[in-house]
Amino acid sequence: MRFLLALLPAILWGQLPSDPAAIAKGEVLYRNTCAGCHGPNLRGGEGPNLFHSRMVVGGPPRNFFSLLSKGRPNTEMIPFRLPEEQLWQIVAYVYSHTRPGLGPPVPGDVAAGEHVFEQAGCRGCHMVSGKGGVLGPDLSSLGLRMPAEKIRESIVNPSAEIAEGYSAVRITLRTGQSMGGTLRNHDNFSYQVLRQDGEYALIDHAEASKIERLSHSLMPATTGLSPEQLQNLVAFLHRQRAPILKFPVTFFNY
Ligand code: HEC
Ligand code: HEC
Repeated sequence: MRFLLALLPAILWGQLPSDPAAIAKGEVLYRNTCAGCHGPNLRGGEGPNLFHSRMVVGGPPRNFFSLLSKGRPNTEMIPFRLPEEQLWQIVAYVYSHTRPGLGPPVPGDVAAGEHVFEQAGCRGCHMVSGKGGVLGPDLSSLGLRMPAEKIRESIVNPSAEIAEGYSAVRITLRTGQSMGGTLRNHDNFSYQVLRQDGEYALIDHAEASKIERLSHSLMPATTGLSPEQLQNLVAFLHRQRAPILKFPVTFFNY
């Protein structure tokens, strides 16, 4: 009963508590009930990769819950006749992987954090709520995707871990000219590079003489913020929980 009460915010606001006990129970249930089709690491098998499911990564929890209780007609995704509490435990477990950022809001002054975001020039490279630059990832759903500690680390030490699809490259063309940016995509014929000026360049393999992958981030390390400003900035970013509707170019919906 206490667990169901703890779920009220999930049902009302589309957020789930990151209750470790529920997640642990959900893991056992997932392994016994779902892993056979969706894989032990959720990355798919006979059933789809759950990291590529909009419903799982971006939609409201009740849609996921109702899929588990009702199934999807005429597919192998049958309804699961488990007590509601157990179905929610499965949801909590899957979310602990696909929405690792979920958890209690980070303490701090959110409005002051937004001010820091503007002042420090973050919006020049990052979208939040549809406004901002494109050189770095859209941060509108960051609070779902990333735990607070990682958000903090991304700010003070951007090169520690590079966001998927944003590795920095330097391409030298046969003409001798060279170009830097992030390698947003590539296939057998061309490289798609987002240049530092925000424009896309499509470069044929035949045009390029050398491509170097750089190990550092294109994001400058943020310095000069007081501990309080940093805390407020993290609090602001952790509140960004827009549903994930757009997928990075490296995603395929199975
Ligand atoms: C017998 C195989 C099988 C089992 C067991 C199974 N699934 Fe599925 N699941 C599927 C298939 C196949 C689909 C795709 C259905 C379709 O074609 O739309 C699916 C679809 C889904 C989707 C929707 C993906 C999307 O966005 O379209 C979710 C979420 C999901 N399953 C979660 C689970 C969970 C959690 C469990 C365990 C309680 C589970 N499934 C058990 C086969 C299975
Ligand atoms: C010159 C452009 C630029 C500026 C300015 C910039 N960033 Fe970034 N940022 C990037 C790029 C490019 C990445 C992706 C590479 C990486 O993960 O380091 C990134 C990654 C991030 C990430 C990780 C996102 C993810 O999805 O993994 C966070 C969080 C972030 N930046 C926050 C900030 C904040 C806060 C500021 C302002 C203090 C800021 N950035 C300023 C370019 C920038």
